[in-house]
Amino acid sequence: MCGIIGILGHHEVAPQLVEALKRLEYRGYDSAGIATVNHGHLERRRAVGKLANLSDLLVHEPLPGKSGIGHTRWATHGAATVVNAHPHISGRVAVVHNGIIENFRELRTELAEAGLIPESQTDTETVAMLTRMFMDRGLSPREAAEATLKKLEGAFALLWLFDGEDDLMIAARRGSPLAIGHGRGEMYVGSDAIALAPLTDRITYLEEGDYAFVTRAGVEIFDAADRRANRAQVRIDPASARVEKAGYKHFMAKEIAEQPVVLGDALAHYLPEDRINLPETLDFTDLDRLTLVACGTAFYACSVAKYWFEQIAGLPCEIDVASEFRYREPPLPAKSFAVFVSQSGETADTLAALRYCRERVERTVAVVNVATSSIARESDVALPILAGVEVGVASTKAFTCQLLVLAVMALKAGVDRGRLTPDALAAHVEALRHLPGLMNAALSLAPQIGKLAEQLSQAQDILFLGRGSMYPLALEGALKLKEISYIHAEGYAAGELKHGPIALIDRTVPVIVLAPHDRLFDKTVSNMQEVMARHGKVLLISDARGIASASEGSWATLKLPEVPEPFAPILYALPAQLLAYHTAIAKGTDVDQPRNLAKSVTVE
Ligand code: F6R
Repeated sequence: MCGIIGILGHHEVAPQLVEALKRLEYRGYDSAGIATVNHGHLERRRAVGKLANLSDLLVHEPLPGKSGIGHTRWATHGAATVVNAHPHISGRVAVVHNGIIENFRELRTELAEAGLIPESQTDTETVAMLTRMFMDRGLSPREAAEATLKKLEGAFALLWLFDGEDDLMIAARRGSPLAIGHGRGEMYVGSDAIALAPLTDRITYLEEGDYAFVTRAGVEIFDAADRRANRAQVRIDPASARVEKAGYKHFMAKEIAEQPVVLGDALAHYLPEDRINLPETLDFTDLDRLTLVACGTAFYACSVAKYWFEQIAGLPCEIDVASEFRYREPPLPAKSFAVFVSQSGETADTLAALRYCRERVERTVAVVNVATSSIARESDVALPILAGVEVGVASTKAFTCQLLVLAVMALKAGVDRGRLTPDALAAHVEALRHLPGLMNAALSLAPQIGKLAEQLSQAQDILFLGRGSMYPLALEGALKLKEISYIHAEGYAAGELKHGPIALIDRTVPVIVLAPHDRLFDKTVSNMQEVMARHGKVLLISDARGIASASEGSWATLKLPEVPEPFAPILYALPAQLLAYHTAIAKGTDVDQPRNLAKSVTVE
């Protein structure tokens, strides 16, 4: 959620900290702040809102110092105010934090008894105060941080900086990722490799429960049992930090447009020549069940994939949102895999669900975009979706690449379980290979969609309908629209409409029907007629055959190329994304950083 950066450098660090925070801003943009040690003294600058506000502040009130920490915040405890912005300072201690300190209320009582009263409403300040309390009692910064860690409950990544200590940062990871970067006589700490990539190509990931003492000379790492730990240094690709809009107005527009290319890359990787390139260990032959777990858009990718695994491979498939999965305490059959889908690979709920399965000796598969993420590293098998860095908070290219990897898995399951003949497999592979070309045709609808979006932007409520595997796509279309345009939108299974939601229909409610001309088309059209009979304003998204046979009486149509039935959701995702994008543009919202959201949700 929040983003953390720390630098022990040779030059002024404030500009570097701000640059790194730019790369972390996708993790939250409620406020930002930095603290440095300047001539031995801690100083900080904090500003509410986007990082640009902190940059402006620094122009007027520069912050000298060659060691420093920085933070970009997604508010959990306490509103987005300067007082609640990180870094939090108490006495000689500054702290930035990502995660939640669950026992902070009890700790506050203890601190009050020691005469320490917080300034902010945050849980983070408690950490700074506790460390200060221990230092006031005579402990060194190292000892005080260790003593503090022993008192904390929750999931967090923490970074400390100390007044009077120009060459020390202390980092701790419990539940939220943190990486140490190795420079030439400089050292760095960051929430992820993207933050560190332009500074160094050598990083060490802290493991669960690790804490580290970082100086310019290097790092000492200890594990959860306070034993000295050796953690490998890995090379990262400096290009992973190059995230530019490349002439597009928004990252989201760029990422939508990139889909034919990134899907092509993923196809080349997973379907080279005429074979399926998946690890042999991913053998579906004897499985009784597959479990798919994820959040948000990634969950909708799983929901589409359920149709594929069941229809193509005859494999019963259970799906669940990660925040419900482990609390439901589902029994896990012996012959099954659990698949965790996540763009960031750091989503706290999904990671917790993965750990639930691992504890019960379930075989786990990760489908992730960030190959170095916690979910990737903690799974038995990790399949990268190869979408490239996704910056826009609303997930687009990651969704279609997740779908592609899940489709290839479903094909392998079909082969392993003897459900797919070589000819049927070849037909599916051929269909998938055509998708990048079809996506280009879908992208060419953008001007038409822009015009429709102007009218959609006037609506208060918008419904999306779909049947079969287009039903989860209806849910995804509604999610995309509401998160960036702030218009209330819902997705329904077309056949479910008459069981309640149809009461919402009147002339003011646009209804977007996602209906390729497939074997369910006529049934969806009947539901569409029910909407039009009640003066609902229907936008039909279909192919030439569908539009020719059923567009009469609709408000508008969008014509997509024909696509073989199972994989239509991968193509139909594009007009849904473009509708959301252009509606948000028409409303003038902040497309790449919509209010209240963050790209990587590392709290439960
Ligand atoms: C919506 C969106 C979110 C994410 C969800 C899971 O556009 O991006 O719903 O899909 O927060 O995130 P990951 O995939 O990183 O686990």
